[in-house]
Amino acid sequence: MEIAMIPSLEHPTLPRAEVEAVFHAEKYKYSFKKVKKGLIVIEVPNRLFQELPNTVRRLSFTHEVFRVLLHTSSEKLLEKAAEYPWEDVVQRDYAVRVRKIDNKSDLNSLDLEKKLGGIIKRRTGARVNLKNPHVLIRTVLNDDQVLVGDRVSKISKKHFFEFKPHKRPFFYPGSMHPKLARCMVNLTHVKRGESLLDPFCGTGGILIEAGIIGAQVIGSDLDYKMVKGTKENLLHCGITDFKIFRSDARSLPLTEPVDAVATDPPYGISASTGGEKSLDLYKQSIVSLAKIIKEDGRLCMATPHYLDIHEVLKGTNFEVIEQHHIRMHKSLTRVISILKQV
Ligand SMILES: C[S@@+](CC[C@H](N)C(=O)[O-])C[C@H]1O[C@@H](n2cnc3c(N)ncnc32)[C@H](O)[C@@H]1O
Repeated sequence: MEIAMIPSLEHPTLPRAEVEAVFHAEKYKYSFKKVKKGLIVIEVPNRLFQELPNTVRRLSFTHEVFRVLLHTSSEKLLEKAAEYPWEDVVQRDYAVRVRKIDNKSDLNSLDLEKKLGGIIKRRTGARVNLKNPHVLIRTVLNDDQVLVGDRVSKISKKHFFEFKPHKRPFFYPGSMHPKLARCMVNLTHVKRGESLLDPFCGTGGILIEAGIIGAQVIGSDLDYKMVKGTKENLLHCGITDFKIFRSDARSLPLTEPVDAVATDPPYGISASTGGEKSLDLYKQSIVSLAKIIKEDGRLCMATPHYLDIHEVLKGTNFEVIEQHHIRMHKSLTRVISILKQV
């Protein structure tokens, strides 16, 4: 079956990368049919339909997922919609919503919602419910194509607002936005029940997201204040199963391997570097992490653009397998790198 996703427009490459990472983590078979600004279409096996809502819930850069029922042209849309067995999909109340993405046709969204709504009503006799429909029929007008489908999931972003860094009990400048923290966790391919380590945990932003998706949370920081603050923040977010301790990231005392690492080390501007130059700190931390992360584990790291990650990795087995650039302001671009040992 074909599914379509409506990604966030905030970043050009992260939405697709995040979907790919989560589908890999779940060992899904999939292939991208279309990836463009505002729309991602993917072919997945039919049997995944039931479990999809639970899987896509963890995505931070996707707004909505729907199953494609009709894939047609603007001209043929109403004819094809009239032939479709809507009674298989709409049993109770429903609403039709239309979204235009780069569509040059003169189809009017409101008008189309009414026309498609009318077709479904005549076929099923079901009631229109615009406020809280049992089934939402999503229609996307894209280029010269039209996709119509039933919504599988509307991904809630409530938590990203409720748990924003300044709303947590412990706040410190430099905390990462929860949406990016979640994405970084996802990019490691970590699964529910697996362990994720952040050795520069700061206020715990990354660990909160790892805890919410059900990963086993391990974190450390050089600063006691951060260790205490991270624990407070995790508990505030309902995460109780964690291991948080004070440690220098260059000499971590862990003996058990961890499944994944996601981290945002100090950039040498606002966050403390413990007196060391960033490059040396990064190099030594990577050497320490190589001993702890499981052989095929992924490490997702945020660095400032002026730090040469390839220089950091020299002499280690890690290599960069993926990178995304996020422009923060005029003088800072954050680079999100995914590293793996070869
Ligand atoms: C950029 S902050 C992390 C922010 C975090 N992602 C958040 O959302 O709050 C970097 C952290 O690294 C810690 N740190 C600096 N040098 C360290 C070292 N050698 N080992 C471990 N932690 C260190 C600092 O105390 C600081 O809390």
